[in-house]
Amino acid sequence: MFDDAALLAHYALPDRSAPHLRVNFVSSLDGAAWRDGRSSGLNDEWDQQVFAVLRRLADVVMVGAGTIRVEGYVGPLLDAPAQRWRVENGLPAHPPLAIVSHSLDLDPASALFTSAPVRPLVITHHAAPRERHAALAEVADLVVHGEDAVDLVAVRAELAERGLRQVLCEGGPRLFGSLIALEAVDELCLTISPVLESGAASRIARGPQHTVPMRLAHALPGGPMLFLRYLRA
Ligand SMILES: NC(=O)c1ccc[n+]([C@@H]2O[C@H](COP(=O)([O-])OP(=O)(O)OC[C@H]3O[C@@H](n4cnc5c(N)ncnc54)[C@H](OP(=O)(O)O)[C@@H]3O)[C@@H](O)[C@H]2O)c1
Repeated sequence: MFDDAALLAHYALPDRSAPHLRVNFVSSLDGAAWRDGRSSGLNDEWDQQVFAVLRRLADVVMVGAGTIRVEGYVGPLLDAPAQRWRVENGLPAHPPLAIVSHSLDLDPASALFTSAPVRPLVITHHAAPRERHAALAEVADLVVHGEDAVDLVAVRAELAERGLRQVLCEGGPRLFGSLIALEAVDELCLTISPVLESGAASRIARGPQHTVPMRLAHALPGGPMLFLRYLRA
């Protein structure tokens, strides 16, 4: 496994006060974003270690509601040693979860909210159903931007105003596609998993075609995986 301190040095940003949106994905060699509907089919303990280090460095973890429904996201996002590391390094023990949703089809009584160690954020737009909006406001902080689609650029600005400048987006593909279309991505951390999947799995981004040039920051082998880090060109 990696040395944690070395990994932190590979991924820490020089200036935490500058707003930065980092996206993290794992993909098969042929570009699949999941196996049997879950990304856990593609990762291993090396990827989990990098995944956890990226969470350690984040002010907020942003995830699309589709990924939340499949992957769960119940309870703390970090284990106890990682929480201690954050406190020792001047950060709150827990980065909040920020869930992006158009429909607000999220159960306020679910463990996603009741077991969260810190109040989650729910990111949506003004045309989202009002009654769901009100129910979720009981258990989460609502961040509302855009008339009938989420204005993710305004969302980034509000998160920064709240002191949540280091945004870690853990997907999924439709949220990543929206961020690409708005040129709101500063960094992609991409784990290449040594497997061919074929089939109907999505690639890591879905949405309208849009080109954003990136440059390679590092290529780090770890066990059977390859960890690529790209920054905006
Ligand atoms: N390979 C990887 O690293 C990785 C990472 C993450 C996820 N995944 C996989 O991806 C799959 C889910 O794919 P997905 O494309 O459905 O994921 P997703 O982007 O997380 O979910 C799509 C849903 O999220 C909300 N959403 C996304 N972008 C939005 C936007 N711009 N504005 C408003 N709402 C937005 C909407 O929620 P509402 O339906 O509530 O309106 C939308 O239906 C799962 O199988 C998961 O395992 C893989």
